[in-house]
Amino acid sequence: MEKTARILDSKEQLRFIELSQKLLKNKENEIGRRLTFHVTTFGCQMNARDSEKLIGILKDIGYVEKDDEDADLVIYNTCTVRDNANQKVYGKLGYLHGYKKKNPLMRIGMCGCMMQEPSVIEKIQKSYPFVDMIFGTHNIYQLGELVYLMLGGEDEAARGIEINRRGQIISVWDEPVGIMEDLPTDRKYPFKSGVNIMYGCDNFCSYCIVPYVRGRERSRDPREVIREIERLSADGVTEVMLLGQNVNSYGRGADFDMNFPALLREVCRVDGIERVRFMTSHPKDLSDELIDVMAYEKKVCRHLHLPLQSGSSRLLEAMNRHYDKEQYLALASHIREAMPDIALTTDIIVGYPTETEEDFLETMDVVEKVRYSAAFTFIYSQRTGTPAARLPMVPEDQVHDRFDRLLALVQEIGAEENGKLVGTRQEVLVEQLNEKEPGLVTGRLSNNLTVHLPGDESLIGRIIPVTITESGGFYLRGKKCTHIFQER
Ligand code: SAH
Ligand code: SF4
Ligand code: F3S
Repeated sequence: MEKTARILDSKEQLRFIELSQKLLKNKENEIGRRLTFHVTTFGCQMNARDSEKLIGILKDIGYVEKDDEDADLVIYNTCTVRDNANQKVYGKLGYLHGYKKKNPLMRIGMCGCMMQEPSVIEKIQKSYPFVDMIFGTHNIYQLGELVYLMLGGEDEAARGIEINRRGQIISVWDEPVGIMEDLPTDRKYPFKSGVNIMYGCDNFCSYCIVPYVRGRERSRDPREVIREIERLSADGVTEVMLLGQNVNSYGRGADFDMNFPALLREVCRVDGIERVRFMTSHPKDLSDELIDVMAYEKKVCRHLHLPLQSGSSRLLEAMNRHYDKEQYLALASHIREAMPDIALTTDIIVGYPTETEEDFLETMDVVEKVRYSAAFTFIYSQRTGTPAARLPMVPEDQVHDRFDRLLALVQEIGAEENGKLVGTRQEVLVEQLNEKEPGLVTGRLSNNLTVHLPGDESLIGRIIPVTITESGGFYLRGKKCTHIFQER
């Protein structure tokens, strides 16, 4: 398979989008109806943002977005961080095949982190021959060119793109090449948007596959970041989330001189932006300077996701995390001193190889001391190619027992922490109509907690003053204040 990356040129890619527009129009004229697409996203915020870029390109080509997977082009943007993510995709592929049998025009594309694993590509070629197109994380911008080929465009475009015996179009690169700007992108919400500030990861935590599937860490030029946020603001966006696997190492090794706290300050200066969030912060790189900027900049949301992974210093070392239990606890209390109203959330892995009951109790101890508002708890999953995959696994029944105990503690503490907000006045950015209860809308506090309150569409996208009336554990209920605050 040809794996060498080719430097993609945005002008050239825009030309493929134009050429695809013509081919699509011809096809639509031929069949007498519009062609539809659907992108299904698995995994994290990076994938969610990538999907918006894929959707932007497909809409530009002229495809019409459809809410369900019964569409003429379905793209699965996959995640491989844990094995259950992969299993979910394989399960759903069988079901997609059912749609394809009914609609001969249907095409299926697969991209994202799973596709960066050669064994996955082999399996798809062998066992899922009805998949039409495979591409990776480093060349999502090539979608216009891939669609052009899929619609029957000239083969000369296929430089570096393999078309196998079954006609499957395959373009997966080992390495990223540059950072593409200026291609179309879509937004799920008109009023908030993720903004990539860096790509890849250099941390190589011993259990994690992300550095292998997302490549080396690259920081995006701050001028491009600010330019994108200014454009978003002009377009009505009030909340941005700066995205990277470890935003705290922003600028490291780059040819510009700006670190993350400085970038955050610049982002807060953009007119029209009311709220700034970021994901994710590696504890090892979280500086006093960042805490200062967060504390002083009122636009920075009162939420910090600070992945713990384990409370055992022995396991943290084995995991290559570069902090120990005491350092993590000291950091958490320092953050709380600086910002008493901050909500801390975390990621925790249970059952890392060799984890003992004592190690696990250290994790429980950190959870009790830090008092997270929410924690994502994961059962360790062996990922081929990572150093931890060579280590012996903890017996499954022990892992499940620990997982259940951790989950119960996390839920109890989360409910207690969130319950403290009942009776307080807060600002809520209303995001959508409540999916379950008519007459309610759902929004988020600065600290990222979800709030349900009476309201209608007219509130969507607005930041409104709310009195918190009730806690349901991981969500709150409230009502709009009719006085006290000035609405923004
Ligand atoms: N860059 C982010 C995390 C990205 S992956 C960070 O470092 O915080 C999201 C979470 O998935 C990780 O924080 C970790 O808790 C979990 N995770 C990663 N690899 C895993 C594995 N092999 N098994 C179980 N959980 C894993
Ligand atoms: Fe994975 Fe660690 Fe990088 Fe996060 S920091 S993506 S856990 S290697
Ligand atoms: Fe999954 Fe890739 Fe994100 S592996 S967690 S989608 S970076």
